Amino acid sequence: MTTMKILALGAGGFIGSHLTAKLLELGHEVAALDIVPEKLEGCRKRAGFTYIDCDITREPERRLRGLIRDADLVIDLIAHANPGIYVKRPLEVFHLNFVENLKIAEICVAEQKRLIQFSSCEVYGKTVASLVPEQLADPDSPDLAFFSEETTPCILGSVQQHRWIYSCGKQLLERVLHAYGLEDRLNYTIIRPFNFIGPQIDFLPSEKEGVPRVFSYFMEALLDSTPMQLVNGGNQKRCYTYIDDAINCITKIVENKNGVCDKQIFNIGTPANEISIKALARLMQDLYVERFGASRDNLPEIVSVSGEEFYGRGYDDSDRRIPDTTKARTLLDWQPEYDIRQTVDMSMAYYV
Ligand code: NAD
Ligand code: UGA
Repeated sequence: MTTMKILALGAGGFIGSHLTAKLLELGHEVAALDIVPEKLEGCRKRAGFTYIDCDITREPERRLRGLIRDADLVIDLIAHANPGIYVKRPLEVFHLNFVENLKIAEICVAEQKRLIQFSSCEVYGKTVASLVPEQLADPDSPDLAFFSEETTPCILGSVQQHRWIYSCGKQLLERVLHAYGLEDRLNYTIIRPFNFIGPQIDFLPSEKEGVPRVFSYFMEALLDSTPMQLVNGGNQKRCYTYIDDAINCITKIVENKNGVCDKQIFNIGTPANEISIKALARLMQDLYVERFGASRDNLPEIVSVSGEEFYGRGYDDSDRRIPDTTKARTLLDWQPEYDIRQTVDMSMAYYV
């Protein structure tokens, strides 16, 4: 594989830190830009690594342009990525995830650089089955939650349910990239991750202010024997992907053999790993006992809370989302390896 100079924006985050480590291992040079360096500690001494301490919202455009001009490839991972913030500070989500990232994309257009843009499975929103179950012969059929890049429409809740500002901002950014692609002014690849988990995801809720994703809440509840809270009963479902599987797919997208990823959107996820949030709580309890030696008597209780109680007003949810990974399988020859038990086990091991 030809090695490249890669500018990774948001490299200090969960996905970015794993990706940076892998890209360095493959011999690429990585300029890793972020405002928090801690998760990149393991990369510091590796050949080809540079850390750029930079808040893109404060940086003069001239400097960003220089960094982009200097790179062979730009990977943009910067976003507010936790539902808690979509509800509490929706304008910040719009500004960072859309306005600031559009600025990056437009510099890539001007500088003729290939861009890999991280979007989200959240762009698909909800299933038809969540809206009109009574009109469907089999509302529980997985077919209704099977989301494909080219054909599945995006179904979002009302404006008053401001959780959707994240999904909507990501979707609009995708549409702008697509439109530049139509005019042959940008070579982009869009990635829609489906709930990756693994070491270094987010933070434990007591460690700092903020609302991390569910895995961190459940992990802390187990470690501290405090209740595991199921938002609105926990019947909503997700498909979890272990971070190493995801990174393998992303590196194939970076490599872009024969240009197969040019102007393409890819779902990255593990369809076989679907689990309800309630079942995830039970699985984490079982693993905590069986694999990490905890006593069943000390396991936390599992309780239900409303979305409004947990997140505040304006919360709504994706009921179910299963990735169609045909494109990643056929164009990239990629398949995830880890099942749900291994995925959750390896993620928990890091914290225990
Ligand atoms: P993350 O929050 O761990 O990483 C985002 C990084 O962006 C953080 O390190 C953060 O410090 C950095 N950042 C934020 N504001 C910045 C600024 N102003 N200047 C510079 N850096 C800034 O999130 P993640 O899980 O690694 O997600 C990465 C990308 O993938 C995001 O775009 C997210 O929306 C998308 N995504 C992730 C998942 C997943 O499963 N983890 C799912 C869907 C979409
Ligand atoms: C998240 C974010 O929107 C994005 O980072 C990303 O696009 C997407 O995940 C992804 O990783 O693919 P979501 O799956 O809703 O979306 O995020 P979580 O915070 O992990 O919540 C999962 C489910 O658990 C939600 O239904 C939530 O209501 C529930 N939850 C959360 C609980 O039941 N208990 C908790 O303590 C926390």
